[in-house]
Amino acid sequence: MKFGPLELKSNLFLSPLAGYTNLPFRLTIRELGGLDLATTDLVNARSLLEKNAKAFKLIETCAQDQPLAVQLFGSIPEEMRDAALMLESRGIASVDINMGCPVRKVVKGGGGSAMMNQLDRTARLVKLMVEALHIPVTAKMRLGWDDENLTAPDLARALESVGIAAIFVHGRTRQQGFEGKVSLAGIRAVVDAVASVPVIGNGDVTTAEAAKLMIDRTGCAGVSIGRGAFYNPWIFRGTLDYLRHGIPEVIPTFEERLRVMRRHLELMIQVFGESRACLMFRKVAPWYSKRFGPAKPFNRKIVHLSSREEFEALIEAFLDWRQQFLDADGRLLERYQPTNLKPDFAEEPEVFRRDSIPVPKGPVEVW
Ligand SMILES: Cc1cc2nc3c(=O)[nH]c(=O)nc-3n(C[C@H](O)[C@H](O)[C@H](O)COP(=O)(O)O)c2cc1C
Repeated sequence: MKFGPLELKSNLFLSPLAGYTNLPFRLTIRELGGLDLATTDLVNARSLLEKNAKAFKLIETCAQDQPLAVQLFGSIPEEMRDAALMLESRGIASVDINMGCPVRKVVKGGGGSAMMNQLDRTARLVKLMVEALHIPVTAKMRLGWDDENLTAPDLARALESVGIAAIFVHGRTRQQGFEGKVSLAGIRAVVDAVASVPVIGNGDVTTAEAAKLMIDRTGCAGVSIGRGAFYNPWIFRGTLDYLRHGIPEVIPTFEERLRVMRRHLELMIQVFGESRACLMFRKVAPWYSKRFGPAKPFNRKIVHLSSREEFEALIEAFLDWRQQFLDADGRLLERYQPTNLKPDFAEEPEVFRRDSIPVPKGPVEVW
């Protein structure tokens, strides 16, 4: 898999998730394997140029976090170019342009999914960036603004003609938000529209099987995974093994889930300091506990987490409480086992059924 000159070891990608795809989360996933190019949350190009401290925290990285893409949003071509040049000079491997964000604040300024309605203008912006940079420039889009305006294939073609290195496409429209199903046909239309630029499919992938299905049905060159990654940080390793060697995805044990959750908190503390890390971890830990089986007391207490010590005490109490659901060998009794989510793509309703993947609450819930 190549994005322009950048050679990648995996065709699986981490989707940007504002508020989540920070350095500790990326490192947690990288340690589990299967992921090569990861991305930051979206970052305002102008804020980077203004040396805004919050924007710089978003691009914080380290040697173990390579290769890294930064996702920029903005609509002023010169600002986008200059911010990208600054990122290139700091060793960032690739710059992604946000063309899919439906949040009003972003769209109002002409960025995010508004870019999907202005093909010529968007192509000019990308051209300016591509001509100035040596690193690849990629774009992340939705299928279009709404069902009447499925502009992604035309936009993809226009961007290919000005040198985009890859296209990420979430198989929903801006109007859909996170409602309805991901359209594999919509992703395939983008794949069919371009000559050779890699198209990476995205949306609702939570298992290795779903990733394979998306590739098989759309011809996409790779898959980008967002919510599936905090639901299942092992998904990249499992999917790569499944795609390459047909090895069925291994479902991590409870002990492994606990180990990785603890490691994730540790990395958060290193990067954000104990107090802020614990505050942020309140919304991260419940993703791990979704697969713990019964976890009521854990979920009730974790949302008040304020120190590492408290975390350890909470785990200890939870392990005690959890004993009642275990068999003589210490395994969770069958009836308490969490079920695996399955994808429910628009074109495969009979084969794959699933409950919808939750969208995290907060200001970004309309992504
Ligand atoms: C909490 C949250 C934050 C997101 N932030 C971004 C973002 O910063 N940039 C972006 O392009 N997409 C963002 N998205 C969209 C995801 O990258 C992805 O396209 C979408 O969630 C569908 O993929 P998934 O089903 O694998 O999560 C966000 C989605 C969520 C749920």
